[in-house]
Amino acid sequence: MRAVLVANPKGGAGKTTLATNLSGYFANQGKSVTLCDLDRQQSALRWMAFRDPALPPVTGYYAGNQIVLNLPKESDWVVVDAPAGLQGYKLSDYLRAVDRVLVPLVPSVFDMAATEDFLNSIRGEIRSNRMKVGIVAMRVDPRTKAAGMLEEFLRHFDIPIVSYLRNTQNYVNVAAAGATVFDPPRARHRRDLEQWDALVKWVECA
Ligand SMILES: Nc1ncnc2c1ncn2[C@@H]1O[C@H](COP(=O)(O)OP(=O)(O)OP(=O)(O)O)[C@@H](O)[C@H]1O
Ligand SMILES: [Mg+2]
Repeated sequence: MRAVLVANPKGGAGKTTLATNLSGYFANQGKSVTLCDLDRQQSALRWMAFRDPALPPVTGYYAGNQIVLNLPKESDWVVVDAPAGLQGYKLSDYLRAVDRVLVPLVPSVFDMAATEDFLNSIRGEIRSNRMKVGIVAMRVDPRTKAAGMLEEFLRHFDIPIVSYLRNTQNYVNVAAAGATVFDPPRARHRRDLEQWDALVKWVECA
């Protein structure tokens, strides 16, 4: 079993969007995948309730009430969707339980300011843990000034941007159907799938 934590203390950064789509990727690869929802709002599990049983399956698991994160060992992959505001000892505990941490980050001054302490605290844990941390620049075109601002901000942390995901209603539409950009009809999401390429490679590399 390998585990990916999707976290950012800022609400609405794109955690559930990343976690559901990454789960959809693994499911479409024929892997067994558990989507572990830590959020009391249970957005990821709500998403799953809409999922067509004919689509590659994602198993749901609510772990929001656990003091110590206990991940199901029987899956090939576990994707953990964190709630907004995750920090402190709980965050440290979760970081020890996973192989990869993905931090979705929208390049706005508000989002970057709200993420700064979080990145500082996980930077401190990177050296003492086996996990690797990567940023996913959310809702941004890499050629814009906003992207430049984000790169400048991240220079202080030595954490790579693993991909840029554009702002598109595709994510809103697939979410409403309990689906992901990896589920059919994939041709509709061709541009998004190209952007996910580097992200899934980074997650999967040993
Ligand atoms: N790349 C994108 N393009 C367009 N809309 C997006 C994109 N990513 C996320 N969204 C939308 O932004 C909103 C917030 O995303 P999401 O729920 O994934 O954030 P979150 O970090 O899980 O929020 P919370 O902190 O409340 O759990 C949702 O309506 C989602 O559909
Ligand atoms: Mg969420």
